[in-house]
Amino acid sequence: MATQIATLSVADGIATIIINAPPVNALSAPVRLGLVETFTAALADDGIKGIILACAGKTFFAGADITELGKGFQQPDLHAVQAVIEGSNKPVVAAIHGTALGGGLEVALTCNYRVAVPSAKVGLPEVALGLLPGAGGTQRLPRVVGPAAALDIMVFGKPLSARKAFELGLIDALVDEGGLHAGALAYLRQVIAAGKPLPRVRDREDALKEGRNDPGLFDRFRAANARAFRGFKAPENIIRAVEAAVTLPFEQGIKREWELFLELLGSTQSAAQRYAFFAERGVGKIPDLPTDAKPLPISRIGVIGAGTMGGGIAMNFLNSGLPVTIVERAQESLDRGIDTIRRNYANTVAKGRLSETEMERRMALLTPTLDMQALAGCDLVIEAVFENIDLKKQIFATLDGIAAPHAILASNTSFLDLDAIAAVTARPQQVIGLHFFSPANVMRLLEVVRGRMTSPQVLATALQVGRVIGKVTVVSGVCDGFIANRMMAPRTAIASDLTLRGPLPWEIDRVMTDYGFPMGPFAMMDLVGLDVIGWNAETSRSATLQELLCEAGHWGQKRGRGYYDYDDKRRAQPSAFTMEAIEHLATKAGIERRPYSDDEILEHLLYPVINEGARILREGIAFRGSDVDIALIYGYGWPVFTGGPLFWADTIGLDRIVAGLEKLRASYGDTYAPDSLLRDFAAKGLKLHKFGA
Ligand code: 3HC
Ligand code: NAI
Repeated sequence: MATQIATLSVADGIATIIINAPPVNALSAPVRLGLVETFTAALADDGIKGIILACAGKTFFAGADITELGKGFQQPDLHAVQAVIEGSNKPVVAAIHGTALGGGLEVALTCNYRVAVPSAKVGLPEVALGLLPGAGGTQRLPRVVGPAAALDIMVFGKPLSARKAFELGLIDALVDEGGLHAGALAYLRQVIAAGKPLPRVRDREDALKEGRNDPGLFDRFRAANARAFRGFKAPENIIRAVEAAVTLPFEQGIKREWELFLELLGSTQSAAQRYAFFAERGVGKIPDLPTDAKPLPISRIGVIGAGTMGGGIAMNFLNSGLPVTIVERAQESLDRGIDTIRRNYANTVAKGRLSETEMERRMALLTPTLDMQALAGCDLVIEAVFENIDLKKQIFATLDGIAAPHAILASNTSFLDLDAIAAVTARPQQVIGLHFFSPANVMRLLEVVRGRMTSPQVLATALQVGRVIGKVTVVSGVCDGFIANRMMAPRTAIASDLTLRGPLPWEIDRVMTDYGFPMGPFAMMDLVGLDVIGWNAETSRSATLQELLCEAGHWGQKRGRGYYDYDDKRRAQPSAFTMEAIEHLATKAGIERRPYSDDEILEHLLYPVINEGARILREGIAFRGSDVDIALIYGYGWPVFTGGPLFWADTIGLDRIVAGLEKLRASYGDTYAPDSLLRDFAAKGLKLHKFGA
């Protein structure tokens, strides 16, 4: 017999309605219907004195069913469900466990009371989908916690712990972890015994005074967060909806919320962010992974190299409570590496985001050594030494002789041939790429590079490791630069070339930040250091802008001068030296510089990236277009409100990209010729982001 979505059971005059719609009890059409039917039945039964609303499985309602959004509203809609619950003349208690999110919390806010177990979380995360809470959240939440706290909760979308929600009055009672139903029942019986009028959030006005007495609150909130909101539409609509909560009567506020919700729902931004939500959850699904490829247990980690990447990689595991043995070639490098890890933790402690005890616990999990033999007990060893193929081969050959037979050997190489590295070992099936992004303890992307010989079980283990350390893992085949770096390489190349033709580095960077990137390519190169990205002092011949800058010691932020000049607070200013260097090179090459429009700059920088994405798909380096988008969103801060490069390309039209690339080809040569897959998709009206879906 199929499990019923909604069940109503009655004992001693109390009805319990339980929704069971795995995996997350999303408020889909059948769930909404089940709610209306069970509530209507409970309300019609005179023997019932009170109602408990709870969910089965791992969580209370996780929100509206996101797959339904944008496809019209099947009745009963969420407002109709809420009208039935809120109209109840019997007390209704929401019994919350897991996560009450979005529409889930909005439903709970139409119940008279909310009780939760301490491990529960509640929140209105719609902003992450480019939306606002459209089922009364923007009107009811400020009536409970006040407009300022409500803005924070909705605009940043971060769920609150049950304890915090209790402090804010959003939860009326916390009950024992294992006794949600019993606790809700006891609470409800108390309420019934007290016989007081039933409170409804919509009738509350007190908390709104904060906004009525201080209307400037909204503009101050806008100004204080302008940088974080840059490019996003949803935060502004949320602010407007909360303003409406403060200035309009409840029913009119709800109407205003709905208008602002529909405006977002119809936007490309929200479509892009909803796509990204599912794309992120799809990356771990590997089409050709046999179901019996079960991950191996990984409990001891080794890292070789305690430099920029090795240290950050080690921190991921320490943060997850896994012991790490870290090997260096010299005591000095080892000490420096360990100091950096300690300093990073100390900074987090200073910001109040980590306790001293926890920092020491993590440091105690770290074993620094100069002896490779210490890696013998590890289940997974990740190499992060200099990017040099001979060195990496030598390390892997040695490691192969030391590591336990079951151990997985991984490389963090950015561009080198993983198969060539695997070939020096007697266990190429146990070799894999784990390509972290800098800073490795912060950036969410982990590219899992599958070698020609990598076994399915090793791949499954790598994906599991990624989950354990909280990364978003995207599988890539072996190629120069894998997915994210390979895609972005043409942007850097063409940006440098473009400076000679007209636009200056800061103009180009501005177009990129206007598009939504956290920083442009020149600011980024200044940050990384111009000397370490392909410059060679011995062969440098003043032939390129980078060579001219590096020869003059303008290596970027660390020298206070790079493409930009930096003041003592590291604020960037346009550099006269850079401008002169550009003029000099352009004159030497006989190029007449001219102004470029923002659109032209955008085409120059981003169309080649799309083209590279098409090539990556055609070559089978990525399984899906959506994997490519996720890699760029999490690896390079590609603005999520565009959906990533391929979703964006589909939005603006592949014909346009092909035509733009043809123009670039005329100026720059065949490197920029549209790829055959791109042409094919454009001709057939297919979508790149759906490739492999
Ligand atoms: N609708 C549809 N499917 C959903 C969903 C939702 N609201 N939330 C999760 N899912 C699906 C996921 O896609 C995934 O499917 P899959 O197994 O086929 O890949 C499955 O449920 C499990 O999700 P996760 O892998 O994310 O599971 P976790 O345990 O890691 O996380 C969660 C659970 C915290 C609930 C997380 O899924 C989440 O944050 N969900 C979205 C919450 C949200 O944004 N709610 C607001 C929705 S919009 C809304 O309510 C509008 C209203 O205001 C009108
Ligand atoms: P780094 O120069 O900061 O660190 C390399 C470390 O390896 C040094 O501390 C060095 O002493 C150590 N080392 C060298 N030979 C060794 C040996 N034989 N045994 C033990 N340790 C040895 O370099 P970084 O930036 O950390 O890069 C490491 C690897 O990570 C490279 O393959 C690089 O391509 C890759 N990578 C780098 C990224 C970055 O942004 N820096 C991003 C992603 C990958």
